[in-house]
Amino acid sequence: MKIISLNINNKQYSVKVSNQIINEIDHFIAFDNVVIITQKNIFKLYEKYFNKTKKIIFIDETEKAKSIDVYKSVIKKIIKYNCNRKSTIIALGGGVVGDLAGFVASTYMRGINYIQIPTTLLSMVDSSIGGKTGINLEEGKNLIGSFYQPKLVLIDPNFIKTLNQEEIISGLGEVIKYGILSNIDFLKHINSILFDIIKNRDLLLLEKIIIDCVKIKIDIVERDEKEQNLRQILNFGHSIGHAIENQLGYNSIKHGISVCYGIISALILSKQKYNFPQSEYDLILNCMKKLDLSILREINIKSILEILKKDKKNNNNYNFVLLKKIGFPTTNNELNEAQIIESIKKNEYISN
Ligand SMILES: NC(=O)c1ccc[n+]([C@@H]2O[C@H](COP(=O)([O-])OP(=O)(O)OC[C@H]3O[C@@H](n4cnc5c(N)ncnc54)[C@H](O)[C@@H]3O)[C@@H](O)[C@H]2O)c1
Ligand SMILES: [Zn+2]
Repeated sequence: MKIISLNINNKQYSVKVSNQIINEIDHFIAFDNVVIITQKNIFKLYEKYFNKTKKIIFIDETEKAKSIDVYKSVIKKIIKYNCNRKSTIIALGGGVVGDLAGFVASTYMRGINYIQIPTTLLSMVDSSIGGKTGINLEEGKNLIGSFYQPKLVLIDPNFIKTLNQEEIISGLGEVIKYGILSNIDFLKHINSILFDIIKNRDLLLLEKIIIDCVKIKIDIVERDEKEQNLRQILNFGHSIGHAIENQLGYNSIKHGISVCYGIISALILSKQKYNFPQSEYDLILNCMKKLDLSILREINIKSILEILKKDKKNNNNYNFVLLKKIGFPTTNNELNEAQIIESIKKNEYISN
């Protein structure tokens, strides 16, 4: 069992990573005053481990669950279950469950405890860590939300066994992002194990890589919880990535996969602005090749630009995270329309 402690604003909690957690879940959680927020498909697979409570709330199995309507209906169910200030919410699921359940926890009775049990690779390495919670509006993703840290995060790589391949690839997109942001040796290591993870879902390799990614994210979030400066680097690849996700529809492309396309365009921009080394670019493309991404054919550059303009992280300019080289990200790079168009046209995974 690896226990990683976080200290955010003098509040401490831990992230526990082990492939023995679900088997011994009673050791980690007292089930007397809890309510589980999850999705039916996940619960069907893991019900036997969570039979100590009858207070279970199911939400939609897609991004649609991150909506005001679902938020309201969850709050009503929590009230029906007589939850009080001492209750704990357990978010059992991927990023969708975690973001919604975290937001519910942060607002119900002005904030109650919650525990994250992430069940997708993406939520293990990324969304369960750092306390960003949120729901979407028609006008945009995550427009309503809060920074609200859980009391505990329990990560058991065993959940990955039942994920479909697309979800694994999506999580690996964020794993590659951590490699690019931290250092070249780590990225080379990721590149060397990608095949085993994709084909064999090697649990020991997964456990180690999850621990490495969690440590990187914690290190950043501890220094900048509210994304005033340093935390912005985690948005590397996300400007164009989000725009692609938004244009194609959140249920048509997975978050981490669209980030991969965004990473390639951000690297092309980094080559233009900072002379990002070709050899490092080739290493990253080599990682991407192992993910077997398909070529996007439905991208409309005009609508990508429109979406980028509206993106809350972009104010009025096109504001990007770029890289001088692997491990050396820079924030607040202002770019013009022509540069962005070129970065999409030169992206070998986007055809238009
Ligand atoms: N809060 C943050 O910091 C943060 C960071 C990144 C992404 N996000 C958010 O996370 C969301 C995406 O999360 P995601 O990629 O985990 O997808 P997801 O939560 O939509 O899960 C993907 C699908 O896999 C299913 N599933 C989950 N675990 C399973 C398991 N163990 N076995 C079988 N099926 C399983 C889910 O029911 C769902 O249908 C987006 O809404 C994104 O905005 C948040
Ligand atoms: Zn992301």
